[in-house]
Amino acid sequence: MTDSRLAVIVLAAGQGTRMKSATPKVLHLLAGLPIVAHVLATARELDAAKVIAVVRHERDRVAEAVTAALPHAVLVDQDEVPGTGRAVELALEALPAGFDGDVLVLNGDVPLLDAATLRGFLAAHRAEGAPATVLTAILADPTGYGRIVRASDGAFERIVEQRDATDDELALDEVNAGVYAFGLSGLRDHLASLRTDNSQGEKYLTDIVGVLRAAGSSVSAMPVAEPWLVEGINDRAQLSDAAARLNALIVRGWQLAGVTVQDPATTWIDLTVTLAPDVELLPGVQLKGATTVATGAVIGPDTTLVDCEIGEAAVVKRTDGTLAVIGRGATVGPFAYLRPGTDLAEDGKIGTFVETKNAKIGAGSKVPHLSYIGDTEVGVGANVGAGTITANYDGVDKHRTVIGSHVRTGSHNVFVAPVRIGDGAYTGAGTVVRKDVPAGSLALNVAPQRNIEGWVGANRPGTDAAKAADESGNK
Ligand code: UD1
Ligand code: CA
Repeated sequence: MTDSRLAVIVLAAGQGTRMKSATPKVLHLLAGLPIVAHVLATARELDAAKVIAVVRHERDRVAEAVTAALPHAVLVDQDEVPGTGRAVELALEALPAGFDGDVLVLNGDVPLLDAATLRGFLAAHRAEGAPATVLTAILADPTGYGRIVRASDGAFERIVEQRDATDDELALDEVNAGVYAFGLSGLRDHLASLRTDNSQGEKYLTDIVGVLRAAGSSVSAMPVAEPWLVEGINDRAQLSDAAARLNALIVRGWQLAGVTVQDPATTWIDLTVTLAPDVELLPGVQLKGATTVATGAVIGPDTTLVDCEIGEAAVVKRTDGTLAVIGRGATVGPFAYLRPGTDLAEDGKIGTFVETKNAKIGAGSKVPHLSYIGDTEVGVGANVGAGTITANYDGVDKHRTVIGSHVRTGSHNVFVAPVRIGDGAYTGAGTVVRKDVPAGSLALNVAPQRNIEGWVGANRPGTDAAKAADESGNK
């Protein structure tokens, strides 16, 4: 049910300089989704009356990701005044006139925080009745975070940023998690009074706490149970730490749902992937995007699948695939490269060192070895010989190859498209098929073999080859 007394503000306007990236920090991917999308997903779960996202750096790209993650989020543009305080100040202007509830502020770069923790935090804030509550964490290494400064009686006093802290303050290990709950009344006025006389020349939201205290209000702090929940992502080291943490949770979730994962440390599963019970994932598997795997399928080792659909009991070994559909009981690999539009029907086979693209391969048909099959349709029960190439590209346009049902093509064939092989036809080894082959025929175009007897002895006398031939009696 919608919490009509709750508004959530997600801060996503910063550049993220410490990422040293052309991509805005909050758009870097974590388990297949932009960092900020994780924060928005949590905001959605809280069912707030309003979710506001503040954007500025690479505005359009970030706005697009925000809208994709949460279509009803309201976008607010930050102006040239920098700082998290300014971001919140502008966000408040987007609140409906009559709104008078709590404002939950979330940093757009703290992606692991879950809705259950935030619900507990909000409940504590509401029970306490303080004008502001700050989520804190005790970190073994607090470097980079704002430190929580407490009075000698333990009461919450203020937050000091790493760059503005004294040595004594830097030694404090309780940090600001970047998550705050405020009562709306009063927040507006106090935000307007924030100054920019700090090392970064920014309006720090964190100063609001000291301002409220100075105005005689109490501020409460709630430490989070598990510090990793509030780890922020500022650089690429923190990005990979968070990715590993989230992946471990995702893998564990699938294990509890009945998926065998042999080696969680080398198995990477995007949040957007769907797996059925009794799927088996061998070491070195990456499943990405909209990939789905049906029950009984075995994936890996060393397989990457992006947006693929894998059928029941299929086996996909040492394969790289994108936008491919693999049917029930089919086998793929080892060492297959499945490009977009690959569609292998049930019990089919795409074997070793085979590349496929826009290839619809019928039930029970096999392409077992060393082939390139592109812009091709294969009927049912066909066998495509080892070393087959569909020559689909004439240098300008792509053309189709159609291979009928129950066809047997010889090894080392080239199908020069457009070309069509009728049902039940055969082709000889080494055939370059340039013309259609009628159903039931055998196509051959290789010149008859000629043996010139004694050629090696006459032309390569004294070589090991000549000696070997001699010893065998030249038979
Ligand atoms: C911030 C806190 C710090 C806290 C840490 C927790 C401040 C001043 N400091 O530091 O106390 O320990 O988070 O992770 O708030 N943003 C804007 N507009 C801006 C600047 C930033 O929207 O003008 C957004 C960023 O996109 C980011 C978030 O606010 O999502 C936090 O900004 P960041 O620069 O990462 O702050 P920290 O230095 O991590
Ligand atoms: Ca940060």
